Amino acid sequence: PARALTAKEIMARKGGTPIVCLTAYVTPMAARLDKHCDLLLVGDSVGMVLYGMESTLSVTIEDMIRHGRAVTRGAKRAMVVVDMPFGTYEESKEQAFRNAARILSETGAAAVKLEGGVEMAETVRFLVSRGIPVLGHVGLMPQAVHTNGGYGARGRTVDEWKPIIDDGKAIAEAGAFAVVLEGVAEPLARKITDEIPVPVIGIGASNACDGQILVTEDMMGLFAINPKFVKRFAEIGNAIESAIEAYAGEVRNRTFPGEEHTYKMRGANA
Ligand code: KIV
Ligand code: NA
Repeated sequence: PARALTAKEIMARKGGTPIVCLTAYVTPMAARLDKHCDLLLVGDSVGMVLYGMESTLSVTIEDMIRHGRAVTRGAKRAMVVVDMPFGTYEESKEQAFRNAARILSETGAAAVKLEGGVEMAETVRFLVSRGIPVLGHVGLMPQAVHTNGGYGARGRTVDEWKPIIDDGKAIAEAGAFAVVLEGVAEPLARKITDEIPVPVIGIGASNACDGQILVTEDMMGLFAINPKFVKRFAEIGNAIESAIEAYAGEVRNRTFPGEEHTYKMRGANA
């Protein structure tokens, strides 16, 4: 049977074949993603994509555990990483450990992801040294939308670079096996990828990174919000709509259900 990729194996891909990552929230999609991806992220984007929330801030640890468990049931080879939701890790390294341990033990995932740079380095070191692999997340950090003023790209002027570089370095030095870099200009993404020793997984962070991640529903045309960095590899939303439209028409004109979908009586009554 196929064995899941480990944090160490992902880490060893620095500078090598690009690491293929997508988000996953449910079992049937996870099973399909598993055939082609190295890493599946159970992202807190689940709140916006599946539950219609306005931001990721209302997602709970129970939400993440429910979806994490669904994804590990569908994945065999890909490494499964679960996002720590807002408010479950920022207060102290002990709080972070307690909740990260709960996520790993209740979902079967192999690592957690948390947002933050220099200020979270101590927490990352605490988790990693106690058996919890951590995927970092720097650059645009959606859980900080209220303090950083929106979802616009970062590092488009050189004076914005230093804190973002410092964040990436701090998280890598603290022991993260890789770092997600979100929403930054290409020259900055290239510099961070060159300067930190662990893989940089980009989202809206150019082709210079060691790997890429997107929200699966975004790249399949299943979610309304479409920033510049999303390429639509399919138009699943349109396929869903035409199936529903066809069904509605056939119900209304009584062509569905047909003979082939209809139970007959057994034996003498037939
Ligand atoms: O929640 C999420 O989906 C994410 C990424 C897309 C990196 O954090
Ligand atoms: Na996230």
